[in-house]
This record gives sequence, C-alpha cells and structure tokens, in this order.
Amino acid sequence: MLLLGVNIDHAATLREARYRGASGPGGIVEPDPVTVALLSEQAGADGITVHLREDRRHIQEHDVRRLREVIATRLNLEMACTPEMIAYALSLKPEAVCVVPENRTEITTEGGLNVVVHRERVKACVDAMNAAGIATSLFIDPDPAQVELAAELRAPVIELHTGAYANATGAARAAELARLVAAARLAAQSGLTVNAGHGINYVNISEVRTIPHLHELNIGHSIMSRALLTGIGEAVREMKARMNP
Ligand code: PXP
Repeated sequence: MLLLGVNIDHAATLREARYRGASGPGGIVEPDPVTVALLSEQAGADGITVHLREDRRHIQEHDVRRLREVIATRLNLEMACTPEMIAYALSLKPEAVCVVPENRTEITTEGGLNVVVHRERVKACVDAMNAAGIATSLFIDPDPAQVELAAELRAPVIELHTGAYANATGAARAAELARLVAAARLAAQSGLTVNAGHGINYVNISEVRTIPHLHELNIGHSIMSRALLTGIGEAVREMKARMNP
C-alpha cells in the first residue's frame, strides 16, 4: 500500500500570518499545527512531515518538539543540508529526514537538491544520519545522474520532486511523467526506496500513483486547501449556532 506523509507546514503558515509568535485573544493562537497532525493521524496519515526552514516562516522549533512527543506515526523532518540542521536532527532524532535545497526568497522548494554539485555537503549529512540510524531521503529531480549519486552516497531513500510534472501541461506533462517513471525504475534497481512529493493534488494523484516502485507520497498544500473547503460549512454553522444559542 502506498503510504501518505501529511505535510502540515501550511497550517503553521496560516497561524504565522496572524500571530507571528505573539499570543492570541484570550491565549488562543490558531490553528495549532500539532492538532492538525493528530487529526491527520486519526484519518489515516502514515506520517507527519514538516520543513523547519532557516527563516522559520511557518513551522517553529516548539512545534517540532511537541510533534516529536505526541505523534504516534513517523516524524519526517525536511531540512537544508547545513551543520546547524544536522546537529538539530541528531538531537531531535526524527524517524526520517528529507534533505532539501533551501533558498530564502523562494515561495516553496523550487527544484530538487543538486547532489552532483553539493556532493561533499550531502555526503556529510547522509553519513551523519546513517550513523545515527535516521533514514535519510534526498529530495531530487528525476534525473539519472542524481539518482545514481544518491545510491553511491548510500542514502537509503530518495524523494522524487514531482513539481515540474505538476506544473506542466500537455506533451510536457507526459514527458515529465516519463522522467519520473524512468527515475523511479533506476532508483529501485539501485536499491533505493522511492518516495515522491510536491504539487500532488486530488486530480493528478490518479496519474502520480501509477509511477512504479513508490513507497510514500508527501503531500501538503493540496490537503490543507481541501480541508478548508470541506471544513468551511461546519465552521460557519458552528459559529452561527454559538451566536444564536
Ligand atoms: N516534499 C518535499 C520535500 C517538500 O519540500 C514539499 C513542500 O514543502 C512537499 C513534499 C509538499 O509539497 P506540497 O505542499 O506541494 O504538497
């Protein structure tokens, strides 16, 4: 069965848009991403994914600490390959780490980690995580050179970046899907576990799920967006009922 890691970053984006670390009215600061994680687990999430970015624009360290204590599934920490984040991961000991490129000005993670260019830095990260028994995945584009190097550096897992596929249309989209299929085959042949993520939604999932050898998908924005749509009716009804008891 294909596993689902729910990325809860954007529950924190909504909270930070209003509160930015300040306390709320009567001490209520909402939404609480940890509660969103627990509800996701109750609904069948196989893991919870967070990206602790250098600029702390959404998930905060206190969120990660609470998640570490309360979730019952697996914590997957997405992080940049820096000495600070390596030290942080070693002290947190999440079940999994996903190494991603990070650029302060980007809206979201644009493009995969270039393992070929950053070989030594990535190797240091993989070696440290392997020694600590933390399963490391490398978030890479579906490029054979990246897949081969991930295997050579002994990363046990890769996460294929599905963003280019998700953003493309027509023939370009078919070509991106073919790249993902080829990369997944090559990765499986090389003994890598194959995850995928970025831009996966309720429409393209029917196609994404056909990529061979997939183990886990990490999905965030589309699930959070869908939760707003499916939850808005109940939220309005409840407020109206409290206004007019
Ligand atoms: N996987 C990785 C490594 C990511 O960086 C992201 C985005 O933070 C995701 C999955 C989830 O992408 P989306 O929010 O588009 O579902």
